[in-house]
Formats: sequence, C-alpha cells, structure tokens
Amino acid sequence: MTQVSSLYLHVPYCKHLCNYCDFYKKQFDQSKKQIEEFHQFLDNSLMRHQEILNSSTVEILPLETVYLGGGTPSLWGVEGAEFFRDHVLKEMPIGDNCEFTMEIDPGTWTQEMIDSWKKIGMNRISIGTQSLHPDFLKIMDRQHSLQESLDLLKFCQENDWNFSLDFLLGIPFSKEKKRDIISELDLLLAYRPKHISLYILNARSKYPHIQNIPDDEYISEEYLQVSDYLVSKGYHHYEVSNFALPGFESKHNLKYWRSESVMALGPTGTGYLNLSENSGLRYKWKVSQPEVEVEHLSQAEVELEKMYLLLRTSMGWSPERLSPQLEKLFEHWVSQRLGVYQSGKMILNPRGFIILDSLMSDIFNQEL
Ligand SMILES: C[S@@+](CC[C@H](N)C(=O)[O-])C[C@H]1O[C@@H](n2cnc3c(N)ncnc32)[C@H](O)[C@@H]1O
Ligand code: SF4
Repeated sequence: MTQVSSLYLHVPYCKHLCNYCDFYKKQFDQSKKQIEEFHQFLDNSLMRHQEILNSSTVEILPLETVYLGGGTPSLWGVEGAEFFRDHVLKEMPIGDNCEFTMEIDPGTWTQEMIDSWKKIGMNRISIGTQSLHPDFLKIMDRQHSLQESLDLLKFCQENDWNFSLDFLLGIPFSKEKKRDIISELDLLLAYRPKHISLYILNARSKYPHIQNIPDDEYISEEYLQVSDYLVSKGYHHYEVSNFALPGFESKHNLKYWRSESVMALGPTGTGYLNLSENSGLRYKWKVSQPEVEVEHLSQAEVELEKMYLLLRTSMGWSPERLSPQLEKLFEHWVSQRLGVYQSGKMILNPRGFIILDSLMSDIFNQEL
C-alpha cells in the first residue's frame, strides 16, 4: 500500500500581482466573501481528495512535511490558521518533528498571524526577498520596501526561526546598473538564513522588461559566482536552485526530488503519488472547481522523471541500465568538469546544473 506523509497547499491570493510571477494567483480584495469561497473550495476538495486516495489505496500517515505556498499564504492570516487546524489537520494530523513551512511576503505579515500559525505547528518560514537593493526591488515590481524585508529577517533571526530566503538572478538591468550581488548577499547573510533558494528569472514573452534581461553568459557567471560565494560561507549547494546550512535542507522539497509521494490541495496545487517502483499518479487541482486533472505515469515516464530530478541534486543519479553510450557521455561530462562519476553514479556540480537542460538533450540523443 502506498503511504503519504507530505502536503502542499496553494493559497492563491496576493496583495499585488508582481509582473514577473509565474504562479497562479488572484488579487486579494480582503473581503469575507473571497475567504469563504476559498474555504468552500478546500472543504469540497478534501472530500474529492479522499476519493482519489481511496481509489489508489493510499494511506495518509502523520504528516512529516507541510508546505503552504502561493500566492501569498501569509495573507490567509489568523482565520486561515483556524480553518487549517479545524478542517485540514482534522483529516491529516501532523506528526512529531513535522517540517511545516509558510511562504511569507515581507509586506504581508503580522506577529499575531505568525503566532497563530506557530501554535498549530508552523516552524519554518520562507521569505520572498528577491533582492536586497531598493532599485532592483522596484524593477521587480515588488511592493514592499527593503526595510520591510530587513524587518522580517531581523524578526526571524531574533526569534530563532528556521527560515529560508528566495533570491532572484537575471534581474532586468542588472548589467547596465552593475548589480553588486556580493554586497546583497553579505547583507542577507548577516541574518544567517538556514536556507537560500536562488531562482533565475523566468520571463514570458509579454514580460515588460523582456528586452532588458541580461544575456545567458552574464546569468551563468552570476549563478556560478553566487554558488561559489555561498559555498565559501558554509552553505551546501544541494540542488540546482537551493543552498542550505548542514542539516537544514528542505525536507519537503527533497520528497519531490526523490520522487516520493506528496499530496496537494488548493487551486493549481499538484500532488504526486508514488504507487509502485514503476507507476505514479499526478493530480493537479483545477482553478474553477474542486476537481483534478489526473496523469498516470508509466514505468518509462517514472524513470525519466527520476533521472531528471536526481540529476538536479547533489544526490546524483545511478542509471539502472548503463549502456556503453551513456557511460561514454558521463565520461565526457567529467572531462568537461561538469561533475563527477563515481560508483556508477553521476553527480553534477554547479557548472553542470546551469546547463542541465542541454545535458538532458545529450542523454535523449543517445540510444539508451
Ligand atoms: C509564491 S512566490 C513567494 C511567496 C510570496 N508570494 C512572495 O512573493 O514573497 C515563490 C517564489 O517564486 C519565485 N518566482 C516567482 N515568479 C518567478 C519567475 N518568473 N521566475 C523565477 N522565479 C519566480 C520568487 O522568487 C518567489 O519568491
Ligand atoms: S507576491 Fe509572490 S506569488 Fe504574488 S505575484 Fe508576487 S511573487 Fe507572485
């Protein structure tokens, strides 16, 4: 029987819709009606969700990880904590030592809100910092000030929170304005975050600053520079976009990278059930109604995903069948200083991480 002990919940509201953002979200109008609609959606989803789990004979174990993402979960407030406790945790209780993360936008939090979530188990904060320079915060269409980010960092440090930061690379005008990324990092490292997520801005064609995004060469140098710097400060670069102090790797995200089961709730929330060694089920919540789109993964698809996800991490990938062509390809990557190949396992380094998509094409072009 498949067992699952992780939950992602998507809170689809934001005070302001940042012009670069990829995630599903709606303008938060602070009305009771909007919150009630969201609660209704979740209540109906919980019933549908149980049917999905029952039909695949999946058992829920006490939760080891909970991740509230968005959108802006911090806007859900005290009322959200009460709803989550009485409706969601009632169905799927939290286990001992559960890692329970909430994403917080530096412009949308109160001590009362944090206290109410802490009371029901929240013990990790992920802060949408993006940049620690006021000009770049403006360019990134962020509504909070640098001071608001620093206030939240200080609060987390002083209260000994396990916290993570989101930081963006490839910001428009970085080259022209000579973005001093090391000074920004020094400013944030003074708060000693346990974890840092480093995202390269992914811009759609309609993005207003699309013409001002730095070129690939600049971004790759920026990425390698930041990786080297964070590693020199004691952080482990354990996944393409993630760094952690030892022991503070995100337990929740590790479940995805290891292709382990993670449940999901909330519009666009996407869950994965690892049904067996060679089959999986992915479900994604629709936004218009509490219904899911389901995708069944075959053995070949499961293997392909495992390869891609493990190559993203410092755990590396050991293929089940190693063809001579693949072995030759790995040796070529090693000679290009993209990683190490030892005991049948290919482990990429940051130089490999940054060109992972092209390395994946190399693999597909081989007869495996
Ligand atoms: C859901 S948001 C974070 C929580 C909160 N809403 C906030 O903005 O502070 C998660 C993270 O995704 C990243 N992100 C959003 N859109 C992105 C894009 N187009 N390219 C790369 N990263 C993006 C940002 O770093 C953001 O902090
Ligand atoms: S606040 Fe966060 S989720 Fe909302 S639009 Fe901005 S980056 Fe996206």
